[in-house]
Amino acid sequence: MPPLTTKRKATGDVWWRNAVVYCLDVETFLDSDGDGCGDLVGLCERVDYLAGLGVSCIWLMPFYPSHQRDDGYDITDYYGVDPRLGTHGDLVELVRTARDRGIRMIADLVPNHTSDRHPWFRSAREGRDSPYHDFYVWADEKPAEKPGDVVFPDQENSNWAYDRKARRWYLHRFYSHQPDLNVANAEVRDELAQVAGFWLEQGLSGFRLDAVPFLVEPIGMPPGAIADPHQLLRDLRRFMGRRNGESILLGEVNLSPEQAVEFFGARGGEQLDMLFSFTVNQAMYLALAREDARPLAAALDALPPLPQDCQWAHFVRNHDELTLDKLAPEERAEVFAAFGPDPGMQLYGRGLRRRLPAMLGGDQRRMRMVYSLMFSLPGTPVLFYGEEIGMAENLDIEGRYAVRAPMQWSDEPNAGFTTAEETRRPVLAGGPFGFREVNVARQRRDPHSLLNWMERLIRRRRECPELGWGDWTPLAQDDPAVLAHRADWGGSAIVALHNLGGRATQARLELAEEGVLVDLFGERDLDAGGRRAIALEPYDHRWFRLRRPGRRAAP
Ligand code: GLC
Repeated sequence: MPPLTTKRKATGDVWWRNAVVYCLDVETFLDSDGDGCGDLVGLCERVDYLAGLGVSCIWLMPFYPSHQRDDGYDITDYYGVDPRLGTHGDLVELVRTARDRGIRMIADLVPNHTSDRHPWFRSAREGRDSPYHDFYVWADEKPAEKPGDVVFPDQENSNWAYDRKARRWYLHRFYSHQPDLNVANAEVRDELAQVAGFWLEQGLSGFRLDAVPFLVEPIGMPPGAIADPHQLLRDLRRFMGRRNGESILLGEVNLSPEQAVEFFGARGGEQLDMLFSFTVNQAMYLALAREDARPLAAALDALPPLPQDCQWAHFVRNHDELTLDKLAPEERAEVFAAFGPDPGMQLYGRGLRRRLPAMLGGDQRRMRMVYSLMFSLPGTPVLFYGEEIGMAENLDIEGRYAVRAPMQWSDEPNAGFTTAEETRRPVLAGGPFGFREVNVARQRRDPHSLLNWMERLIRRRRECPELGWGDWTPLAQDDPAVLAHRADWGGSAIVALHNLGGRATQARLELAEEGVLVDLFGERDLDAGGRRAIALEPYDHRWFRLRRPGRRAAP
């Protein structure tokens, strides 16, 4: 069968290229039973809210039993559901309800490490005779390491920790309570595949694969232990394809574009289906700080061509620090100065622990421009819960968790998130972004709210598969504050204009085609042909669909 690349039908086949993904943590979304912890039943109650918003895929952060020293990324049972969140039954009801409303679900899969409380590691510590000893990476002497190679420099100063019981050193790329799995061991690979298979069988449509680059770095292993590190990803991909043909792998791969594309593989469907574009994200913040679109245009230009069916995932914020590690030090300093000058807003010397609305001082025009921009980029947009209402961070919460405060549903106590008095993480109470000001209930009643605007943005994005599938072309501009681009797919085109600057300006447009530029967010249609200047307000955003003469108008 040839791929359905030029027809709209393709959007129902390679569904991820036109999806709108919404990431949430069950624990902070909605508490149904008043114990102060969000749960699966609570989330299930809000599936209609998410369906109304228009998202088509929910990404669940880890919901597995865990030691809770890395917010669930330190798993103690890959097959379980954290009892604080509910049961397997609750999860399957949730998956089914979401599917009924047209929403697929994916979840974090964390193959790089377990918790040190995982039964595998507990057994492994018994020594070489344990059947699980080789599930982890050990050394008798502490191996030499490159300075600065730790992910969390505030808490760790080495990638190796000594285990008194095993009397050996073990590898941990993240915290020392997260020993790295030995992916060179075929049994480990089998177990990980079985875990993926198990959750696919519960109705998930794939995984956000955590910390992927570490999986293919055979640190601490004897030379040749893994003949081809990427084979792990190929095997997992093939296995998942056999179990559930529509399932995807969305990878956390924070590398340069040239290195990142290696994780798609040479052909589509060979390794990962989607990768977050961290370089585009970081360049976007530099562009916003400078009010100059050129760094973003350059980062987009640097993206290599994608193998068939593969896709970039774009985001404004995720659950971690806003890492700026790929920027040059002076560039990073510029972003810090613009969006997080207080050292308490910064983390690990490389990132910010803030959400966008606070970084932009709550400027609605600018916030909307940024989301419109992200949604118009060549790729699939990924939202983080609360972005649709403009939630800010709670800096009273330590470290990266500042952006993981409870969802702000209403102005009731504890933001309507729980009826309990105590929550594990405090809701944001005071200030312009506190829950009394920023909440879902209030914004639902206001036709001009960010929430209602976001709903329209999501609907438009889903109606514009050209953006997810098309060929991206920048359109030359006189004013560097303006990013203008078009996306062409199957004879149809979208033109998007964004003014990153706080001054009114003009975009230059020179299209070869005749016809009408249909205004997708307003009612100011334009003639397409010839050369024209389009006035842009400060921080303006405009999308058009090019309607060629004689063609039917889209709604
Ligand atoms: C990924 C996650 C992060 C977690 C880490 C270790 O980077 O995004 O939240 O702490 O992996 O699992």
